[in-house]
Amino acid sequence: MKKPFAALAAVIALAGCAPSPQIPVPTAAMAAESSEDLAVLQKGYGVYMAQCSRCHEPMMPSEVSKDDWHIVTPGMAWNAGISEADEEAVLKYILAAR
Ligand code: HEC
Repeated sequence: MKKPFAALAAVIALAGCAPSPQIPVPTAAMAAESSEDLAVLQKGYGVYMAQCSRCHEPMMPSEVSKDDWHIVTPGMAWNAGISEADEEAVLKYILAAR
């Protein structure tokens, strides 16, 4: 009589243990590869982690295409109420991190 409970426990354990993806931290290599300023990427990363994770988990930059990031970010920056400069830094960071 224990089996159904064991199966249920396994399902709950699996659902609770979905690995959370690691959002990449800006590095000098990332800055060099994208020809962006490391300081700008770091600012964008900071805004992304602080503002873009208020309503939902921050998406992995690689999960969304370049074109879609260009389309989605302005609307989400409006959602987040961040400045245009912050929006630009976020987009630069995301595109560099992809
Ligand atoms: C005020 C809440 C809020 C904030 C802040 C917010 N988002 Fe969102 N975001 C949403 C909601 C709601 C959805 C799902 C509905 C939709 O697609 O519009 C979403 C969806 C998304 C998606 C998936 C879109 C798709 O079509 O698959 C991405 C990517 C995204 N957000 C990025 C960001 C980024 C980047 C920021 C920071 C600049 C941000 N979000 C800040 C509410 C927010």
